[in-house]
Amino acid sequence: MHLSNLVAGLALASSVIAAPSKPKDECKDDSLYKAMQQRGRSFIGTAVTLRNESRETEIINQEFNSMTPENAMKWESTEPSRGNFTFEDADRHVAFARKNKLQIHCHTLVWHSQLPLWVSNGNFTNATLIQVMEDHIKALATRWKGACTRWDVVNEALNENGTYRESVWLNTIGEAYIPIAFRLAKKYDNKAKLFYNDYNLEFNAEKTAGAARIVKLIQSYGVKIDGVGYQGHVTSEDTPTAPAPAPEQKVLEAALRATADLGVDVAYTEIDVRLNTPVTAASEAAQVATWQRMAASCLAVKKCIGMTVWGISDKYSWIPGVFAGEGSALLWDEKYEKKPSYAGFLKGITGKKN
Ligand SMILES: *[C@@H]1O[C@H](CO)[C@@H](O)[C@H](O)[C@H]1NC(C)=O
Ligand SMILES: *[C@@H]1O[C@H](CO)[C@@H](O)[C@H](O)[C@H]1NC(C)=O
Ligand SMILES: *[C@@H]1O[C@H](CO)[C@@H](O)[C@H](O)[C@H]1NC(C)=O
Ligand SMILES: *[C@@H]1O[C@H](CO)[C@@H](O)[C@H](O)[C@H]1NC(C)=O
Ligand SMILES: *[C@@H]1O[C@H](CO)[C@@H](O)[C@H](O)[C@H]1NC(C)=O
Repeated sequence: MHLSNLVAGLALASSVIAAPSKPKDECKDDSLYKAMQQRGRSFIGTAVTLRNESRETEIINQEFNSMTPENAMKWESTEPSRGNFTFEDADRHVAFARKNKLQIHCHTLVWHSQLPLWVSNGNFTNATLIQVMEDHIKALATRWKGACTRWDVVNEALNENGTYRESVWLNTIGEAYIPIAFRLAKKYDNKAKLFYNDYNLEFNAEKTAGAARIVKLIQSYGVKIDGVGYQGHVTSEDTPTAPAPAPEQKVLEAALRATADLGVDVAYTEIDVRLNTPVTAASEAAQVATWQRMAASCLAVKKCIGMTVWGISDKYSWIPGVFAGEGSALLWDEKYEKKPSYAGFLKGITGKKN
């Protein structure tokens, strides 16, 4: 769902050594990730595109213990032509995570979008496309083995009605491409937790059922899947681009349990809460409440291990560029001031009344 926004920059020496996690701080919940750890969960993360904003780095260090490279690991960024692996930008993101002691939610191996034409229009046979997939997964999973805490192995394989999305993967290989991708990911990185990731799973029951079917499909092949990522790109009110605002907390919890009950972990992987701009006092109050119940729904489900928000400052959010007239979707404003949504999100994590 995200526009390519690659950063040009100097290539720094990269490191693929595992990022040491931040130590648990037993007596503090004065930041998002510490509050999450206090509740016995693993992480609060953010999407990262390196862009030399020191304020952004400060906030990441204070508030987060996980990051997802926003674009740097996608296929168009890492294998723009066949066998031509371009890892400089992704390596810089891995080095950033290591320096700042962040888990890495690696993103993503097999997806229909931000996929170069040489793959989608290559007229490959089934066997050759599986080889193309294996070469790609092998190169990425091997390179960052030990650095990736989690991998989004397959991304957005479902239509809104819960059927499989048409793509070069589905059309050439059939549904088997999903378990095959997970089998290959495990083959080349047996440490990372392997995730299926999709959007609108939070409120679209047909699509949530599709995700549960995918978990069962993978398991039926005797292949490992560790988790399902619920992207969490939601709205706090009716907008022209959303089928519905984020539902009440019980519905969110039930959606998480629809896959968690199959024995996998769940996480919110790309949260932002957009609304019609400009914000009003009333629309902001609803937005704060939405952040709070998104967090509370995760905490209400034992297998919900963490939450990632899709960026730090509204200044760089992808929303206004893609959904005109909508925005203000993140926890910090364009000047890096904490918004009321921050307090709502934190309250949802701590479970405290004030
Ligand atoms: C970041 O800032 C440093 C120092 O100002 C500069 O040398 C470097 O080129 C910048 N990198 C990017 C990606 O803008
Ligand atoms: C690899 O891809 C990069 C980025 O598109 C391009 O600049 C470079 O020329 C390619 N190298 C080869 C050997 O194809
Ligand atoms: C794939 O097939 C189409 C239709 O026959 C053709 O136009 C296209 O050039 C082919 N692409 C490649 C990479 O061979
Ligand atoms: C499900 O949605 C897809 C994509 O919009 C559509 O092509 C397909 O016909 C739909 N299937 C059913 C059973 O409604
Ligand atoms: C492609 O090959 C895989 C692996 O052998 C198999 O599971 C899948 O069913 C095949 N797909 C088609 C469309 O024949």
